[in-house]
Amino acid sequence: MTAALTTSMPQLLSPPLLCSTTFMTTTQTKPTDLLPALDSLVISSRSADDLMKGIVALLHEKLTRYNWVGFYMIERDADRDMLVLGPFKGTMTPHTRIPLNQGICGAAASSGKTVVVDDVNADSRYLACSVETKSEIVVPVFAHGKVVGELDIDSHFLAAFGPEDRTLCERAAEVLGKFLERHS
Ligand code: SME
Repeated sequence: MTAALTTSMPQLLSPPLLCSTTFMTTTQTKPTDLLPALDSLVISSRSADDLMKGIVALLHEKLTRYNWVGFYMIERDADRDMLVLGPFKGTMTPHTRIPLNQGICGAAASSGKTVVVDDVNADSRYLACSVETKSEIVVPVFAHGKVVGELDIDSHFLAAFGPEDRTLCERAAEVLGKFLERHS
């Protein structure tokens, strides 16, 4: 009888311990936690396309609020320059080519500045990609002092992009720009 009671004790105590373990493993990745991974991607990438695909996969997979992640690169044309969709993850967008005077993407590319929009439905520049999108960040990519493309991220959450997201996205755009400078 005594032996049976003793062996059942640990089983009675185990549920609270399991709960605390589960809580600890669901801790979310912070955007700046991914900065070292960006540097690793630069080392392992053989081409700019490889690096863009790696950045897109990393951000889309690790940050749950990053629901659409992609690059647009500028195609120079005698008539008019155009942002052309490059590697991306998320639902297909109707905006595969965007003139520099259109959209939040065009605003970031033509101004050369990061654009953060907390509520896309309140911004008249916004070109809709998905009805679920609520906020967006677009960061220009510079190479040899000129804007050559941009990193665009959409979220299903309002005001999803704070200072830490901006730091990560600007660093991602910077490592791509430096890679392009070394390989062109
Ligand atoms: N929303 C962007 C268009 C690109 S999609 O978000 C992928 C814009 O307003 O320029």
